[in-house]
Amino acid sequence: MATKIISGTQFSSLPASYIRGESERPKLAEVDVLDNIPLVDLTCPDKTLLIQQIGQACRDYGFFQVINHGVSKEAVSRIVATGHELFGLSVEEKMKLYSDDTSRTTRLSSSFNVSKETVHNWRDYLRLHCYPLDKYTPEWPTAPSSFKEVVSHYCKEIRELGLKLEEAISVSLGLEKDCIKRILGGEEQEQHMALNYYPACPEPELTLGLPAHTDPNALTILLQDMEVEGLNIRHKGRWLAVRPQPEALVINIGDQIQAVSNGRYKSVWHRAVVNAHKPRLSVASFLAPSEAARITAPAALAEEGRGNEYREFSYGEYYKTFWSGDLDEKKHRLELFKN
Ligand code: OGA
Ligand code: NI
Repeated sequence: MATKIISGTQFSSLPASYIRGESERPKLAEVDVLDNIPLVDLTCPDKTLLIQQIGQACRDYGFFQVINHGVSKEAVSRIVATGHELFGLSVEEKMKLYSDDTSRTTRLSSSFNVSKETVHNWRDYLRLHCYPLDKYTPEWPTAPSSFKEVVSHYCKEIRELGLKLEEAISVSLGLEKDCIKRILGGEEQEQHMALNYYPACPEPELTLGLPAHTDPNALTILLQDMEVEGLNIRHKGRWLAVRPQPEALVINIGDQIQAVSNGRYKSVWHRAVVNAHKPRLSVASFLAPSEAARITAPAALAEEGRGNEYREFSYGEYYKTFWSGDLDEKKHRLELFKN
């Protein structure tokens, strides 16, 4: 029987269940590689300029890269090594972690939502809940042996950066620095992680690693593979390749900050494309509201005469819609919550 994961098996051609219809293929030659997303140095001494750069990036791209972000080089190189070790384990070992039950808080899986989707994606992933660490690390993988230590350390550093960025984003919207954090649930905010592994693909023009989607959470911090490109974002009606920048992390606005900013900042469509030659590893960290958080834009951001673009909802309610079907949605999920 064929295994349910793709890493660790040699494919000479793409299995039929991964082949997308003509109009849904990536058209790799059409991806824009001339521009790139803004780069922000978080140690910029001119704080006004820094906030302005972040605000502009959130409005114009929904994405930016940060350098001097405070996440140590060591934490980064160790999690990359651990990720490669994990996906390099035997298929049998990886299958011990396998589950397609999307309610599980630790699980290794493939594609996106294998039991619901019609076409599969060329990706394996390990998904973890990461906060509070004490609650979740007992269920994390025990192989590779350094996994828990390396990943929890990385998670702590990432959380600090995420909370700092929430403050900067808050200020850039003209709000008090704690405002967004408070709406999202303060210290109770959740943190999840996806270690994504995209094996080299025999026919990269026919499939995707991840189809176009927006992130349902508040803020995503993505550690890209420094050697292998693959992230594309939708910008000005085209796909733009996000070229990895040494020592940078990619930040993107998720649906919740789009809602809290009353639509000023955009949770932008993005996708992962694959290639024929090299596997690609990415580490996505998601800061998400606590389940009970009531998501709504503060009064200061209401449009005169029009109020809020989205009705108030709880994050628990929102998140349910995320795993309910295919990732490959044609409509922005926030449309379901429009006033
Ligand atoms: C994600 C995502 C992009 C990548 O995990 O939500 O968009 O390059 N990942 O792996
Ligand atoms: Ni994403």
